[in-house]
Amino acid sequence: MMDALQSLEEDVQRAFRSGDAGHLDVLGYGEISSVLGLDTGGKRYACKRLPTMSEQQAAAYEDCLERYLHALSSAGIHPLESTLHTFPADGGFAPWCVQPRLREEELLPVYLGNCDEDEAAAVISPLVQSIAHAVTPELGLDSQVSNWACVDGRLVYLDITTPLMREDGKELLDTSMFIASLPWLLRKPVQRFLLKEILDTYYRPRGALLDAAANLHKERLGYLLPTFLEEANAHVTPLRAEEVERFYRQDAVMWSALQTTRRVDRFWQLRVRKRAYPFLLPGRIVR
Ligand SMILES: Nc1ncnc2c1ncn2[C@@H]1O[C@H](COP(=O)(O)OP(=O)(O)OP(=O)(O)O)[C@@H](O)[C@H]1O
Ligand SMILES: [Mg+2]
Repeated sequence: MMDALQSLEEDVQRAFRSGDAGHLDVLGYGEISSVLGLDTGGKRYACKRLPTMSEQQAAAYEDCLERYLHALSSAGIHPLESTLHTFPADGGFAPWCVQPRLREEELLPVYLGNCDEDEAAAVISPLVQSIAHAVTPELGLDSQVSNWACVDGRLVYLDITTPLMREDGKELLDTSMFIASLPWLLRKPVQRFLLKEILDTYYRPRGALLDAAANLHKERLGYLLPTFLEEANAHVTPLRAEEVERFYRQDAVMWSALQTTRRVDRFWQLRVRKRAYPFLLPGRIVR
């Protein structure tokens, strides 16, 4: 496993230097992590590479992730089994979070897409309940459907690499990790004015449900919205379809603007400064 991961790390380094991820099996492009497929020893894995960090940050991250996995379990969420491997790379330390690779049809967006209405309702109901019960001002969830899977009839949560936990209103995670992925011009204003507000959504049941509902549009599952809202509105101040639509539009504008600035930044770093750009970026997302 470690050898295979090490060689994957080398492939990723190559992609950072060239800006071309064509030789990698990319399963997902995160804000802070890149998710890569890896087949080794007859097993299939999903490997999530966190940004390169100092040894101290890596130790703090490991601690934070462990606490998050515990907190999720205590709150009734089943996180997908995940192991962290950290090794020296690129002048610092690169944590890799390794999970079993789920089958495409187990990932919730695909799963729901294959369901009839009743089957979908049978998944949406526990999904909404888990979100509504687990999320507190201390425990956050990125509750979008793309972060869940249905494995042997059980809902599991897979997007655990950004531990969302607050203590006395302060993020437990070193938020400079999010900030580092932004072009430098945006870092200060985002850190100072925007980050708390963006993250607040994830720490409020209503915010998390609104985000998940909006994400149904992105996943082309908008026809499930009435079912989702009916279930959600049993738990929170009612959400209306127009509010979800508005949230989705705003979110789409913000993220595509952000992706554009990141592409510009990558061009600048790679072609002008002749430096590696340490993130993988998606092509243009169709919405
Ligand atoms: N264990 C897994 N098996 C198969 N596919 C996976 C697995 N984990 C993630 N994926 C795919 O990769 C996508 C992104 O993964 P994930 O949600 O963990 O990170 P992210 O949202 O991209 O990252 P970040 O939190 O850094 O923004 C998922 O939506 C899913 O399609
Ligand atoms: Mg995700």
